[in-house]
Amino acid sequence: MQDDLRRQWEENAEFFASLIGNRGTPHHRKILNPCVDRLLGELSGKRLLDAGCGEGYLSRYFAERGARVTGVDFSERLIRNAEKLTSDVSVDYRVGDICELSALHEQSFDAVLCNLVILNVPCAQDAISEFYRVLDRGGILVMSIVHPAFDFYGPGEWEMGERNEDTGRREGLCFKMDNYFEEQTYERYWRSREGERFPEPITFFHRTISSYFDFLTTAGFEVTKLEEPVPVDKDPFFDRERRIPFFMVFKAVKSEE
Ligand SMILES: C[S@@+](CC[C@H](N)C(=O)[O-])C[C@H]1O[C@@H](n2cnc3c(N)ncnc32)[C@H](O)[C@@H]1O
Repeated sequence: MQDDLRRQWEENAEFFASLIGNRGTPHHRKILNPCVDRLLGELSGKRLLDAGCGEGYLSRYFAERGARVTGVDFSERLIRNAEKLTSDVSVDYRVGDICELSALHEQSFDAVLCNLVILNVPCAQDAISEFYRVLDRGGILVMSIVHPAFDFYGPGEWEMGERNEDTGRREGLCFKMDNYFEEQTYERYWRSREGERFPEPITFFHRTISSYFDFLTTAGFEVTKLEEPVPVDKDPFFDRERRIPFFMVFKAVKSEE
């Protein structure tokens, strides 16, 4: 299965990199990233692992702020893309599977960021246990996902009304959710900014919030924060995202002892 998943990201790599555009989508910039940044805290001089770094814009962002960043992704094309985009800061990019990080030493990081990756990974427990292993004592993990209780990749969907001429988005009438407890695998095609369909679908794993909580505590982490970030401003474009949460972010700590 892992080979099929890797192939999807390889085939989609150029489309994904151009969608991210070295700065993230409006949803990332206006909702998720400010929360992730705050939960990670001051990273200057600290060792950060960006697990599933994609085209690496967050690796670069934190490296520019003084962190010593290692970015790992199993898509070789995305890593090559990340390297091309990284000229004025230093990031140690590596091709690798986050479910098996034996190339990285134990206790060699102060922080791990796993941003919108674990919902694409079948071996979530393995990955989270690897994050625990590579973290130093007192180290932190910040892990974000699409909110599983409002999972429009999986069992949920918006019922939509008319298109709003001002925002270009369709009005959200209500969000429909069912079968939350069925942990399922879905495939979804993303679209470029121009509306062109990605060449390959992307596989998502719908899991409950309690499953993620269990993965973290089973690995040994103490979960210290659970956030459902809201848009940072009143932009009418994000009307739907002010009504139900789009993302969920966990902060977990490896004990000092
Ligand atoms: C939605 S993208 C997020 C990328 C990046 N974290 C960001 O915020 O832009 C998911 C990324 O996870 C990577 N990925 C998925 N499964 C992986 C695995 N098992 N090991 C390493 N990378 C993986 C994909 O190649 C892709 O770059």
